[in-house]
Amino acid sequence: MNLFTAIEQRRAVKHYQANEKMSAADFNTLMESVLLSPTSYNIQHWRFVRVTDVEQREKLKSAAWGQAQVTDAAELFVVCADVNAWNDRPERYVANSPQETQDMLLPMMHGFYNQKEQIQRDEAMRSCGIAAQTMMLAAKGLGYDSCPMVGFDREQVAELICLPDGYVIAMMIAIGRAEKAAYPRGGQLPLAEVMVENRF
Ligand SMILES: Cc1cc2nc3c(=O)[nH]c(=O)nc-3n(C[C@H](O)[C@H](O)[C@H](O)COP(=O)(O)O)c2cc1C
Repeated sequence: MNLFTAIEQRRAVKHYQANEKMSAADFNTLMESVLLSPTSYNIQHWRFVRVTDVEQREKLKSAAWGQAQVTDAAELFVVCADVNAWNDRPERYVANSPQETQDMLLPMMHGFYNQKEQIQRDEAMRSCGIAAQTMMLAAKGLGYDSCPMVGFDREQVAELICLPDGYVIAMMIAIGRAEKAAYPRGGQLPLAEVMVENRF
């Protein structure tokens, strides 16, 4: 599928064909695409919980106030982030770079995030947001629909997935074959309202 067609046709779909699964080949293509998403300093904060267990899906659905896509979609991910990833063996993020680049980037990364908790968390969430969009567009390209979700009780979901200390939940993403089309678009703000030139 053409990239712009995928962008235009990606919609938040809430009703899925409950018996449709994603093939292993499609799953691999999807995740290989997601892992190519950009992150600041290549930190790759994202940690994905792929929920395959039917009972776990039911519990998550209860925590998501009964949203049907949590159980019915072929795939369900809880997209999480390791907020401390910036400080966890950061040499991994530059492993293929020339030595002088590593020597420059590693202290720079440390200075950028050290003792700046708000920025660490912002960065983790940014990484997840970009990965989420890659995931939804790649899913569309493979012929699936998707739904990003924050409509759930964060504490309950954290407990269900045994969220480690220092991790945050960015969102859930359901992916599957649509049973019903998305509702008409809610109403896009005009470009003139959301873009300024040079400064606010
Ligand atoms: C971070 C995020 C959280 C969302 N949470 C939910 C949700 O819990 N349930 C739901 O049905 N839709 C959810 N949505 C879907 C939005 O309502 C939808 O993306 C928006 O209305 C625009 O519609 P479109 O994605 O079809 O273009 C969420 C979207 C985003 C980006």
